[in-house]
Amino acid sequence: MKLNVLKFGQTSFGEDVFLYNFSNKYIDIEILSYGGVIKSLKVPDRNGNFENVVLGYNSLKEYENDPYHYACITGRIAGRTKDALLKIDGIEYQLSKNNGKNNLHGGDKTLHNRNWQSKAEIVEGEGVLTLETFSPHLEEGFPGNVNFKVIYRINKNKVTIEYNGFSDRNTYLNLTNHAYFNLSGDFKETIASQDVKINAIGYGRVDEETLPISIEKEDLFIKMSKYSNLNEVLESKHQQVKIVGGGIDHPFILSKDSEYDVELKDEKSGRGLFVKSDQPVAVIYTGNFLEHTHNGICFEMQDYPDIQNFMPSKLKIYNKIEKYQQNTEFLFDIICKN
Ligand code: GLA
Repeated sequence: MKLNVLKFGQTSFGEDVFLYNFSNKYIDIEILSYGGVIKSLKVPDRNGNFENVVLGYNSLKEYENDPYHYACITGRIAGRTKDALLKIDGIEYQLSKNNGKNNLHGGDKTLHNRNWQSKAEIVEGEGVLTLETFSPHLEEGFPGNVNFKVIYRINKNKVTIEYNGFSDRNTYLNLTNHAYFNLSGDFKETIASQDVKINAIGYGRVDEETLPISIEKEDLFIKMSKYSNLNEVLESKHQQVKIVGGGIDHPFILSKDSEYDVELKDEKSGRGLFVKSDQPVAVIYTGNFLEHTHNGICFEMQDYPDIQNFMPSKLKIYNKIEKYQQNTEFLFDIICKN
């Protein structure tokens, strides 16, 4: 494992942003101290050619103004919170409204657009990047002074992300990473020719605001626990595909009975991505509103979105005693030819 540290730029507040480049014979990854963003991730195709499979920008300025949440740490609450309201201990907290009348991904001035304290090292052949930041009580309206610690680990062909949140009072947290994957390599093609397998029991039907309203196990637009060609899904006339701008933008309730929660493969390049998480849900988004439509697919491994309305019985409270933690791993491999 090799580690290279570079200065990537300075934020508009004059803080130095670092780029950490870990590389071994399976993976070459760049991660920024800004937003914990995965700036690029190169893995070999079946002929051993390393190419980038995660959408990114060249400059810090673009990350500071990114409307798409490219590969950043996302939270305090990933996804949309209806009416930007969070109720904890009977108190209603008014969150910032940055997506119509809802809160999206914890607001605009939050974990994804700040520079984190960062420390990189190699421990017994494993690349480890530790990122820390503090979010004060009522930042973007959320309760609790929270210390966040996110650890990226790169080991052989696997990237693991561990998220931790320590709050001094009752709150709710739900973090994820918003990377857009495209296994064609250097974005030669859209994701349409790639195949996805979601090991789920159903999905959350969404309304016109992309808020989940019910769990759907029958009226499916994608096969569960079987590979589907993404083109067929993206082109589908299903009302749930249309309502999110043509594609997927839904929470999938993971079945947790398979080795991986989600799998993506690209027959042409031979690349495969296998995702495993301790979280109950994968919010999958096919980049329906990207400048280059369907140029990447997000696997946002997380808790139930809009949990207080969608799945209130599953709500967890975090505080000094109950720490927030989640773990997700992304494994890259060469797939067998069909
Ligand atoms: C955000 C969300 C995605 C999707 C888009 C739609 O990026 O993370 O899941 O809903 O908004 O614009």
